[in-house]
Amino acid sequence: MSENDSKTQNGGEGKGEAKGSLPAQQSQSEPENIWGDPITKLKPEAHVLLVHFAKIPEEEIIPHVLATREKAWKVCPYGCIGKFLFVDPTIQNHSYYKPVLERTKKSNGEEGDMILDLGCGFGQNMRQLVLDGVPRDRVFGADISEDLINCGYDYFKDGNADTRFMSFIGDLLKWGSGEEKPSAYDMAKEQFDIIYTAIFYHLWSYDVQKSACIATVKLLKPKAGSTVFGWQLGAEPAREVVRGIDERRKEHGVMFRHDEGSWEKLWREVGKETGTEWRVEADFHVPEMYKEHISVKGRDAEGKEGESRGGILWYCVTRL
Ligand SMILES: C[S@@+](CC[C@H](N)C(=O)[O-])C[C@H]1O[C@@H](n2cnc3c(N)ncnc32)[C@H](O)[C@@H]1O
Repeated sequence: MSENDSKTQNGGEGKGEAKGSLPAQQSQSEPENIWGDPITKLKPEAHVLLVHFAKIPEEEIIPHVLATREKAWKVCPYGCIGKFLFVDPTIQNHSYYKPVLERTKKSNGEEGDMILDLGCGFGQNMRQLVLDGVPRDRVFGADISEDLINCGYDYFKDGNADTRFMSFIGDLLKWGSGEEKPSAYDMAKEQFDIIYTAIFYHLWSYDVQKSACIATVKLLKPKAGSTVFGWQLGAEPAREVVRGIDERRKEHGVMFRHDEGSWEKLWREVGKETGTEWRVEADFHVPEMYKEHISVKGRDAEGKEGESRGGILWYCVTRL
């Protein structure tokens, strides 16, 4: 993704985010018009993952990626689709990944821990776990969009009955608030030892994120050691950002970009509301590719308008 446009970053999702919000009137146009140059080469880890699962010849890779984005954009106009982030697994770069592999791959006759990729989209991170030796029956996905999950099967060409993942399709927020009954998440309640959430909670305002985190707690086994880990867009200091966004995604018009302190505060509040206690580890950093200061405009915790530095927040939240 090209880095040569404006230096204000309001709400693009992912490491290679667009700088400047997505103009609503352009949101239905071809992805190339919005997100810059089409991809010409996959990163090594994305290449390995695709070839391992889809087993397609080299010359078909880029046409396959482009055709997949085209299809996915029509059903789900997310920045992570427009910017080809669905090809890139990220879970393996997380500092908590090694313990996750140990927990999910127990070898002494015990079953490994169960891991859920919440807001899994295409499911590239689920496939990364499998590639790294986690049994497929320990890996689960959940998303509001069945279309995106199916795009993942088309992309990785692994939608056969014996290679499909167990997935929960539904709106986490509606399940959490009791608005959606019955819900696929009913079956998932208190089932998971570990939940991975990548570029997920930042979709919403602070209060909606809190509801999403409370719903996440309900999916975790109610015991010490249950873990939520992942990453999302952040800002330092934290800011609430109003973004121009595709009209099909009105509920994502306000996003809260955390710093380490605001993320910890959120989880203290989640703990209070759920009667639980959490150790919160968080790390805000500015990736290498943001060589220049990237400004995030919006309101700070006191409601004052201003600018912050944009970056990425990595986190690992463990129940005590
Ligand atoms: C920015 S994408 C990230 C996808 C994936 N985690 C990744 O790293 O590529 C956000 C995902 O959250 C899902 N999502 C949005 N709202 C949701 C909700 N209320 N309940 C469950 N999933 C939701 C979207 O369908 C989408 O797949």
